[in-house]
Amino acid sequence: MADKITISVIKADIGGWVGHSAIHPALEESARESLGAAKKQGQIVDFHVTACGDDLQLITTHRFGVDNEKIHKLAWDTFITGTEVAKKLKLYGAGQDLLADAFSGNVKGQGPGVAEMEIDERTSEPILIFMADKTSAGSWNLPLFKMFVDPFNTAGLVIAPSLHKGFKFEIHDIREHKKIFFETPEEIYDLLMFIGTPSRFTIKHVFSRADGTIAAASSTERLSLIAGKYVGKDDPVMVVRSQHNFPAVGEVLEPFRYPWIIEGWMRGSHYGPLMPTSQKQATPSRFDGPPRVICLGFQLADGMLIGPRDMFDDPSWDEARHDANIVADHLRRHGPFEPHRLPLEEMEYTSLPQVMQKLEGRWEKL
Ligand code: F6R
Ligand code: MG
Ligand code: MG
Repeated sequence: MADKITISVIKADIGGWVGHSAIHPALEESARESLGAAKKQGQIVDFHVTACGDDLQLITTHRFGVDNEKIHKLAWDTFITGTEVAKKLKLYGAGQDLLADAFSGNVKGQGPGVAEMEIDERTSEPILIFMADKTSAGSWNLPLFKMFVDPFNTAGLVIAPSLHKGFKFEIHDIREHKKIFFETPEEIYDLLMFIGTPSRFTIKHVFSRADGTIAAASSTERLSLIAGKYVGKDDPVMVVRSQHNFPAVGEVLEPFRYPWIIEGWMRGSHYGPLMPTSQKQATPSRFDGPPRVICLGFQLADGMLIGPRDMFDDPSWDEARHDANIVADHLRRHGPFEPHRLPLEEMEYTSLPQVMQKLEGRWEKL
């Protein structure tokens, strides 16, 4: 068997064009130069640079495994170089997600989002990479549950022997920094108890119960918890393997038919529908949204990324987009009211504590 291959998706918002709506082509170009040089030197096997809204996405394949210092430093340096370009063009919020002053061995906890998996590449290895904007860590919980647990979504769970044993979920409590594993279908009620609160419990990895191999990996970094205040969106990414012993491509995509309501719209303080779009249409403009999800598909060939195919660039997603616009309209009518705006406790990193402090002396006992 060939050496294991690692897929690393590392992303950051290092400056928006215009406002927080998109990435300027010069930033993508700068990232391509940096990763192109690393590929020439043999540090990485292959790469693809793209953007989802105002997030620059570095997709790389390499032989170093997950959490590798060299690979994380390459991503960090690429973001630093890109930030210089962003500053020159005075793009909006240049370097905003690079929370640390200097690289310290791993980009985790320093601002960028990371989803990585090390795999034995199968005879044919279709992978799907999801990227989102105006969202927060945990936004993949519901789609991942549908993909790997819900037989109304994934027919293979019932009729394909390779999927019939179910999957194992690794859940992170991002507040208490703890993790727990659940096996499905037996433990779905326990699992749902936690992942139904995506702002705290996120699905980090999914594994096949047939042979223990990894099926999905997501980024769970929570910027506000890292920085101690609101600094920007988490805008998570995720890698999902598909076909054969995993859900089919169409089963992996199917959960996005409905625009699930997630947090992260306007100022990170509003709930909005997650709209699946082509990469080209991932440029949130209405009320800085609505939140977007894109999916690029690749076949791996000895680590080379054969693709991308822009998976939501297909008329079969038109109704999902239409529904998302209807939900967006309805939520927008609520203006500053919940459940469009996040509840107070969830907004502790906004100006609300300051407002409360200012008014403290004016509250009278009832
Ligand atoms: C950021 C975002 C936006 C901003 C909003 C205010 O990813 O989605 O909704 O939160 O445009 O941005 P600032 O505070 O930078 O003026
Ligand atoms: Mg931004
Ligand atoms: Mg963003």
